[in-house]
Amino acid sequence: MTENIEADAPILIFDSGVGGMTVLAALRDLMPDAPVIFAADQAGLPYGTKTEAEIAARVAGLLGRMSERYRPRLICIACNTASTIALGMVRDVLEVPIVGTVPAIKPAAALSQTGTIGLLGTEATIRQRYVDDLEARFAQGKRLVRQAAPGLVEAAEAKLRGGGTASVKMAVKSAVADLRAQSGASDIDTVVLACTHFPLLADELAAELGPGVQLVDGAAGIARRIQALCEGQPVDNSAPSRAVTTGDLDQFGLLAPLFAAQKIDHLDRF
Ligand code: DGL
Repeated sequence: MTENIEADAPILIFDSGVGGMTVLAALRDLMPDAPVIFAADQAGLPYGTKTEAEIAARVAGLLGRMSERYRPRLICIACNTASTIALGMVRDVLEVPIVGTVPAIKPAAALSQTGTIGLLGTEATIRQRYVDDLEARFAQGKRLVRQAAPGLVEAAEAKLRGGGTASVKMAVKSAVADLRAQSGASDIDTVVLACTHFPLLADELAAELGPGVQLVDGAAGIARRIQALCEGQPVDNSAPSRAVTTGDLDQFGLLAPLFAAQKIDHLDRF
């Protein structure tokens, strides 16, 4: 396989919005100059309030079209919602290697002292069988308290566009209050950020949850997996990287400085 890969073939990082930036930042720590396409399906945002059928159709259709257009060496679905619903299906239909993003329950279970773990995700993610399976495999004998936090998705988008400080604070406060209101939640010492948007609010969440609670997300592990899969492949580090959105390009343009910091200078509409 390796000899067929073009040196300028990009790594495609896909999310419904800016959540994928948390994975992109972790990847840049390991592969600072590799060609990347960052794709945000902001016309479909949020995924978390959609049905399984809608998400699966959208993700499979878009990734099929994006693979044809960009010929990526690898696709990372940098979205827990899309991964827990559509990873198997997308792997079945596309030939390119696909790395998914699934809730970091395994490392959280290893870190928790109290054995009570909070999990913040989208409405769609927290009801998935995939999460039940991760819980059964890696959190046996522990208590997993799942909380949907849809307000945090819009809050993370607003924060990155440079606005909404008061509404971001309120969204974080309300998500943490909902989590704390669940039975057994007072013992939580570890919270899984099971949506790639949420690490963008890590400071606000840590402040609201207090010093006794540690946050866990999967970005660094996903970046290591991508790097391992690209090992030994030719990589043209001077090939261009770009960010594309299915949504409004003017709004997306507000993120240009953040993308520039990740060595992405071209922003387009997909
Ligand atoms: N970033 C996505 C995730 O990891 C979902 C955000 C959304 O579109 O609801 O789940």
